[in-house]
Amino acid sequence: MPDSPRERNLFFIDQTLSAPKPGRRAPDTDFPPREMRKRLNSPLRREADSDFIERFMGSIFGKLFQISTFGESHGAGIGVVIDGCPAQLPISAETIQAELDRRRPGQSDLSTPRKEGDRVEILSGVYQGLTTGTPIALLVRNTDHRPQAYDKLRDQFRPSHADFTYIAKYGFRNPEGGGRASARETIGRVAAGAVAKQLLAALCPEIAFSCYVESVAEIAMPESDTFFPQALIEAVPVRCPDSAVADKMANRIKSARSNGDSVGGTIRCKIRGVPAGLGEPIFDRLEADLAKAMLSIPATKGFEIGSGFAGTQMSGSQHNDAFEMRDGKIRTVTNRSGGVQGGISNGETVTFRVAFKPTPTIAQKQMSVDASGTPCEVIGHGRHDPCVLPRAVPIVEAMAALVLVDHLLRQTAQRRF
Ligand SMILES: Cc1cc2nc3c(=O)[nH]c(=O)nc-3n(C[C@H](O)[C@H](O)[C@H](O)COP(=O)(O)O)c2cc1C
Repeated sequence: MPDSPRERNLFFIDQTLSAPKPGRRAPDTDFPPREMRKRLNSPLRREADSDFIERFMGSIFGKLFQISTFGESHGAGIGVVIDGCPAQLPISAETIQAELDRRRPGQSDLSTPRKEGDRVEILSGVYQGLTTGTPIALLVRNTDHRPQAYDKLRDQFRPSHADFTYIAKYGFRNPEGGGRASARETIGRVAAGAVAKQLLAALCPEIAFSCYVESVAEIAMPESDTFFPQALIEAVPVRCPDSAVADKMANRIKSARSNGDSVGGTIRCKIRGVPAGLGEPIFDRLEADLAKAMLSIPATKGFEIGSGFAGTQMSGSQHNDAFEMRDGKIRTVTNRSGGVQGGISNGETVTFRVAFKPTPTIAQKQMSVDASGTPCEVIGHGRHDPCVLPRAVPIVEAMAALVLVDHLLRQTAQRRF
């Protein structure tokens, strides 16, 4: 079996497409579609097509530090394969577990009561506590799956979930817990993010994260330049560092739940100590890669860096970040750029915000249609988060760490004269 995710994907596609064995009839389907068949059979395959497949498959993220996630909500398990992590990095299951524990369900009465320990197993790539430089495979087995909770939803399309679009795309889906569209997929990202954070700490020890819930529905913290320490953020289940606002947020989430409803909100992420020079113009600008990483998280609806949309209300003279010399370094007086200029980090704190919508599956009756187009009433049974924000904080951090470590390796690999 090939080692890298890219080669593995080629291998699986080759297996799927290989001619039927003598005596065996080709299946009566139009798979693979004609266009894809033509392309895969073309002599121009190999390198060009491995790029094509990488984009086509959509489960792979990163260029040098590359992750490939797998698994479904109510399947056997969820995990990730990490390719490109340098050898001899100290990694332990405990380090990864600590991050997964921040993401796992059932942490408080603000999240889904699904009882999953989310215990990580390191299957490969680590020997005697050090990475070997070969693919790192991490697995979390699903233990508390109850697919029967989705029996009624098998043919129904939950409003604003992925049921209809998965059918529109594949013509077939795993309806149990949302299948691949479930936020359980993010286990792989958080596990990989823990490895990325460990590598960042080794390469760039100054890097630190301050990531927290800034608003829930209409309840918002006042804007602040403070770099809140993680201990303060983690001290309350809602993960908001302002204790008075945190109480209001928690009550707002509980009241949504008791009404069979859900709420959304925003997460603020500040990353200090990012060295100047990360980001690859033109299409792999640092903020473009961060935006893609954040908008790949389920239930996200917006991304804004630095002054974001508010900057549109200012004039250039108000908005520009003036340069100055501070402690022997070129710095900016203000940071409306959010730490990125021209797609490249400028050494200031990278700061962005991510918007999350209210959880789509709610316990109230909603009108929809089923797969045959017949109108039906949908009620969300099963166990759901009344607000995804508190559990999304470690996911945002993990995705940011993956982007940063990838760009750090790319910058290190770049030849400079
Ligand atoms: C941490 C987290 C937990 C989530 N929990 C639920 C949930 O319990 N029920 C649900 O319907 N959606 C939940 N979602 C959102 C869905 O996964 C998401 O809405 C769905 O995949 C459709 O994708 P979209 O909202 O990006 O269009 C959660 C998302 C995150 C990030």
